[in-house]
Amino acid sequence: MENIQKFYIKTFGCQMNVYDSQKISDIFYKLGYIKTSSQIKADISLINTCHIRDKAKQKLYSELGKINKIKINRKLKGKKTIVIVAGCTAQAEGEEIFNRAPYVDLIVGSQSYQKLPQLIKKKISHFSRNKLNKTNLSELDFTPKSKFDNLTEEKFLNKVSSYLTIQEGCNKFCRFCVVPYTRGPEYSRPVHDIIAEAKNLVSNETKEIILLGQNVNAYHGYDSNKNEYNLGKLIYELANINGLKRIRYMTAHPKDMHEDLYNAHKDVKQLMPFLHLPAQSGSNKILKSMNRNYSFEEYVKIIEKIKKINPDIAFSSDFIVGYPGETKQDFKKTLDLVDIVKYAQSFSFIYSPRPGTMSYKLKDKITDDEKKERLLILQNKLKSYQEKFNKKFLKKSLDVLFTNFSKKKNYQSLGYSPYMQLVRLQNKKNMKGRIKNLKIIKTFYKSLDAINEI
Ligand code: SAH
Ligand code: SF4
Ligand code: F3S
Repeated sequence: MENIQKFYIKTFGCQMNVYDSQKISDIFYKLGYIKTSSQIKADISLINTCHIRDKAKQKLYSELGKINKIKINRKLKGKKTIVIVAGCTAQAEGEEIFNRAPYVDLIVGSQSYQKLPQLIKKKISHFSRNKLNKTNLSELDFTPKSKFDNLTEEKFLNKVSSYLTIQEGCNKFCRFCVVPYTRGPEYSRPVHDIIAEAKNLVSNETKEIILLGQNVNAYHGYDSNKNEYNLGKLIYELANINGLKRIRYMTAHPKDMHEDLYNAHKDVKQLMPFLHLPAQSGSNKILKSMNRNYSFEEYVKIIEKIKKINPDIAFSSDFIVGYPGETKQDFKKTLDLVDIVKYAQSFSFIYSPRPGTMSYKLKDKITDDEKKERLLILQNKLKSYQEKFNKKFLKKSLDVLFTNFSKKKNYQSLGYSPYMQLVRLQNKKNMKGRIKNLKIIKTFYKSLDAINEI
């Protein structure tokens, strides 16, 4: 097993998991391994998991079934495979995973992956002593400081738009949500670490940084002189980095909006006019039962306040339908909220009861058909507002930051507008990394087509 060479990573879940998977790749690169996109060729197969809804867990076990078949086939050819489950399901289910999938070798929680080198070394030594399956290992501590302090130097940085996790974990305990259990309590990284990581990204082709946190606007970190920073102040600081053209942040919680952040939307030209502010529901009764700590009226006030500061801003949200106790009238309030805010885009889900959360045992009288119908009604409304929003830009011009180029499909460049709209441009020239002001010639539900008039 000394000849581990190739690793494969599959990522489920949110942007924070995407960021973590990049960091896990960096750990493997440092160990001298090479990334492969073929599971069959991988000596290490890692799944970075999500636990947010029940479906996410089902995905993990179906993926593990596939990996086991590959592991058996590789064994027949005399090759060993280390199977690793990382991330939020690893954290929540822990060693239960070994019971259901005994061929898994290592389990690392969402804040323990810095320990992978030692764990892999241990596993290899077990292999060489032929101790096979009885030696499954797990690491599930919540140690965010150690995780971030041990991030390795990044390799292959060539991303135009990069994620940067500044805050992790959550103290809010919304009653439906697993995150406080899978990511632990709130932790904010020190200001100088964030600035150093941002500078490194920008000196390696990054033009846009998307600041990440489960509650990104609850960020409260310190600089080396022990001055406290909130997210707003941090954004002012990041805006001083030469070459950083765009700043975004997600996910913000309505309760943690603060003056510095509002002002940053007025003063910082690099801060994009887009706010992802999950409402979840429009009904005060449901919001209370969810423990969201704001009302319909307070949420609308936040939207109005930020629009006053910057009328140009576009909004997006997450919604849950079919939360226990949601009546037709409660659901109607959610639709009312959508009519008021007119979101530019949104995500919406049917409530999924999660073991261990406070709402898990709440009685639920809503039928599955009713939940599906509510989701459809909500999604149709959201879609119509998204289409309308996109249509506003027909024959207008927009600044587009290009993030991808493909030679297939008639040479296409893909990029994003300031409002997070996906923009396509048919053009032979690779535009990656450039910001261009382009005319929009066609608009769709989820994207825009542009032409280069010059
Ligand atoms: N911190 C963010 C949300 C993170 S989870 C916030 O407070 O808004 C991402 C989204 O998943 C949530 O906004 C919610 O809409 C959805 N979600 C979380 N738990 C869920 C559950 N049990 N069932 C259905 N959707 C859920
Ligand atoms: Fe989950 Fe609520 Fe925390 Fe968001 S604020 S991560 S929904 S507990
Ligand atoms: Fe899923 Fe964990 Fe993100 S549960 S949504 S991967 S924080």
